[in-house]
Amino acid sequence: MSMLDSWVDEVGLIGGNGSAVNRFAWTPELLAACEWLVERLRELGLNAEIDAAGNVIGRWDVDGADAGTAVLIGSHLDTVPYGGRFDGALGVLSGLEAVRRLKAEGFRPCRPLWIAAFNDEEGARFGTSMFGSTAFVGDDLTALRDRVGVDGVPLAEAMRQRGFDFDEVPRAKGIDGVGCYLELHIEQGPRMEAQSLDTAVVTAIVGIGGYRVTLRGQTNHAGTTPMGERRDALTGASRVVLALRDAALTSGDVTANVGRIEVRPGGTNVIPGEAVFFVDIRTANPNTFPTLGNLVRDTVRTAATAEGLTAEIAVTYEHQPVPMDSELQELLGREMDAQGLAWASLSSGAGHDAQVLAPHVPTGMLFVPSQAGISHAPEEFTPPEQREPGVSVLTSVLKTLLLSENAAVGAIAC
Ligand code: GLV
Ligand code: MN
Ligand code: MN
Repeated sequence: MSMLDSWVDEVGLIGGNGSAVNRFAWTPELLAACEWLVERLRELGLNAEIDAAGNVIGRWDVDGADAGTAVLIGSHLDTVPYGGRFDGALGVLSGLEAVRRLKAEGFRPCRPLWIAAFNDEEGARFGTSMFGSTAFVGDDLTALRDRVGVDGVPLAEAMRQRGFDFDEVPRAKGIDGVGCYLELHIEQGPRMEAQSLDTAVVTAIVGIGGYRVTLRGQTNHAGTTPMGERRDALTGASRVVLALRDAALTSGDVTANVGRIEVRPGGTNVIPGEAVFFVDIRTANPNTFPTLGNLVRDTVRTAATAEGLTAEIAVTYEHQPVPMDSELQELLGREMDAQGLAWASLSSGAGHDAQVLAPHVPTGMLFVPSQAGISHAPEEFTPPEQREPGVSVLTSVLKTLLLSENAAVGAIAC
C-alpha cells in the first residue's frame, strides 16, 4: 500500500468509522486530524503550525531574501455530517504526498512551497463555510461572532474550549506571502466517470448562497383545528422547498437544496408553529448569481402569505462564482497531456477554498474521479489507481512552478 493510501485510511478513522466521517470546526476530532497533519509535515522537515483561525499551515521555506512568494497547495480536513473520507482530505493528503516525493528525490525549490488544510470549509457546525480560507486571505469575519452551532455552543465559546480566541482570527492572514494556489479535489459528481477521465482541469467554481429561513404560524391541536384554519409553518416550508426545486429545474443552471429543517415544537399530534430551514442555492452563471437572493426572498414571502405565516430570512454564507486562472489551467492541461492522461476541462458545482483564494492570487484546481459520482456521503470513494494520476500531475506542476527558470506561468514565475 502506498504512503498516500495508508494516510487516507488513517485520517479516515479520525472522527470516522472507516466510512462515515464527522469532523467539524473546533471539535476534538478535527483538531486531532490537524495535529496528525502537523506531525507528518514536521517529519518531512517543514515548519508547521495551526494558525489563529484553525488552519494547518506547513512551510517549506527557501533561504534568501529574494526567494519570492510561495506556491500554496491545500484543501480541507473538515467534513459534512456523516461525510466521506475523500472530500477535502484527498487534496490535503495528495499535497502531503507531493511534498514527500519532492523531498525524497532531493528536489530543491527556488521559491517557498506552503501547504494548507483550511479550517471549516464545509461550515457544518456554524454555517461558517470557508472560515479558515477567508481568514487566510484577510477578509473580515467579525459578523460571524454571534453564530451558534447546531449543538447550541456559540462560535467564540467553541473556539475558547479548544484554546483559540475569536479576536485573534485576523492574525491568520497569510495571503501576502503567496504567489499562487493549487487545489486537488475529488470531482464529487458523475461526469468524469461517465467520460472515463483520469483527471480534469477546473474552469470555474459555482457561486453559492446560503439562507436561514424561519417561518412562524400558530401551534395548535392536530385534530381539533379545522383544516382551513391552520397556520402550519411546515406546510409553508414545504411550499418553499417545492417552489425552489421547480425554479431551479426551469432555470437549467441553478441548483437549490434544503438539507436541514427543524420543526417546533415537534409533536406528532401538534400543528408545527415554527419551521427553521436552510436553503443552499447555486449557479456558475455570474449574471444569474446576483438574482438568487431575491428568488429565495420572493419564494419565501409567497409561501408565507399563502399559509398565513410570518417569515424571517438571514444570509448564512455567500461565495461568488469565480473562474480559475487561465495560465494555471493551461499548465495543468499540458502536464496531463504529457502524462498521456484522458482529461477534460470541467466546471465545479461544489464550493472550494479555491474560490476564496482566487480573487487574491492566480488559482487552479484539478479533479480526480468520484466513484458513482457520490459525495457528501459515506459511500464517497476514489480508488487508489484513480488517486495516482492527480498526485502525479500535482507533483510535476509543482516542480514547474517551484523552479526559477520556469517562465511557463509568466505572472507567477519566481
Ligand atoms: C462544499 O463541499 C460545498 O460545495 O458546499
Ligand atoms: Mn464538501
Ligand atoms: Mn471539499
